[in-house]
Amino acid sequence: MNHYSLLKHNTFGMDVYAKRFFDYSSIEELRSILKTIPADEAVLHIGGGSNLLFTHDYEGTILHSAIKGIEVIDSTDKDVLVKVGSGEVWDDFVAYCVQQNWGGVENLSLIPGEVGASAVQNIGAYGAEAKDVIETVEAIELRSGSCRTFSNAECNYAYRQSIFKKELKGQYAITHVTFRLSKTPTLQLDYGNIRAQLADKTDVTINDVRQAIISIREAKLPDPNVLGNAGSFFMNPIVSRDTFLSIQKDYPNMPFYETNGEYKIPAGWMIEQCGWKGKAQGRAAVHDKQALVLVNLGGATSDEIIALSDAICHDVKEKFGVDIHPEVNFI
Ligand code: EPU
Repeated sequence: MNHYSLLKHNTFGMDVYAKRFFDYSSIEELRSILKTIPADEAVLHIGGGSNLLFTHDYEGTILHSAIKGIEVIDSTDKDVLVKVGSGEVWDDFVAYCVQQNWGGVENLSLIPGEVGASAVQNIGAYGAEAKDVIETVEAIELRSGSCRTFSNAECNYAYRQSIFKKELKGQYAITHVTFRLSKTPTLQLDYGNIRAQLADKTDVTINDVRQAIISIREAKLPDPNVLGNAGSFFMNPIVSRDTFLSIQKDYPNMPFYETNGEYKIPAGWMIEQCGWKGKAQGRAAVHDKQALVLVNLGGATSDEIIALSDAICHDVKEKFGVDIHPEVNFI
C-alpha cells in the first residue's frame, strides 16, 4: 500500500506516513514482496510499534509480519517446544501458554508487541527475559530472501540486546520463534512486590502469577490506547562497582540489581530523584506512576518528546554523573 498512515502502527501515536507498507502472512509472500523492493530503497521491519518513535514520514518500505500459528513441535515429560509465528500478539501467546500450564513466560504477561519483536528486543520484566525461553529464531535475510535458523547462543542475547539490534540490524525479518517451556514450572516470585501481591494465595499457579503481574503493570504503566507511550523510554544504565559505590554513598536507599560484578540502576528512580516524575514539557510528559515512561499528552510532536528526553538525560548526568540512553528506537 502506498502513502500509508502509521498511526495505528506506533503506540506513541505519531501521525506519520510510510511511502509503502506491506503486511505478509507467509515466507513465500515475504519473498515475493522483497523482489519488488528496489535495491536502494530504505526498508524497515516493524512489530507492534510499541518501541518506536517516528520522527518524520518514512521515505521507504515498511514490512510487518502477520505470520500466525502456535505449533507444538516436540514434547517430553519435562518440557515442550513451541514454534510461534512472528505476527502473533505476544500476550495472546503468553495467555495460551498459561492456559496449557506451560511455564516460562508468565512473568512477561501483558508486555505490548508481537512475538517477532520479543526475539529482537529480548523483552524482559519481573525477573524473566525472553532469552531464557527462546530455543531458536527463524529469519529471512532481506537482501537474498534466504532462510536462516539462529540458535539461542547465535542471537548474542544480553539485557535488552540481541544480534538483531546490533551486528545484523535491519538485515533480517523474523518469521518464527521457537520457545522451550516447562511442564513443571518453577515460579519466579522474587522480583519487586510479586510475593506481596500473592500474599493471600496458597498453592500459587502460573495463572495466579500472570494475574498478579497484570495488576502490577496496570497500576504503573499507562495504556497506550489512552495515553500514547512506548513503555520504558530509557534503558536502565549498567555501571561499574566503583561508580555504583560512589553514588550509593550519597543515596544509601538507591535500588539496584547486581549481576556479575556490574550494577544496574533503575533509570526511573534516577529520573524521579531529578524531580521529573509527573512533569510535562509542552505536550510530552513523564508518567506520574513510573518515571521511566514518557507519554504523549495528545498531539505531541516527536520534537517535543525528544526535547523532554534530552532534558532528562542532561539532568541525570548532572546529578549522578551517569549517561542514560533511550531504549525506544528513533526512526
Ligand atoms: N522506581 C522509582 N521511581 C519510578 C520508577 C521506578 O523509584 O518512577 C524504582 C522502583 O521503586 C523500584 C525500581 O525503581 O525500586 C525498579 O522499578 P520497576 O520494578 O518499575 O522496574 P524498572 O527497572 O523501572 C524494568 C523494565 C520494565 C519492566 C520492569 C519490571 C527496563 C528498561 N524496564 O523497569 O520494562 O516492566 O523492569 O520488570 O528494563 C518496558 O520495557 O517497556 C518495561 C516497562
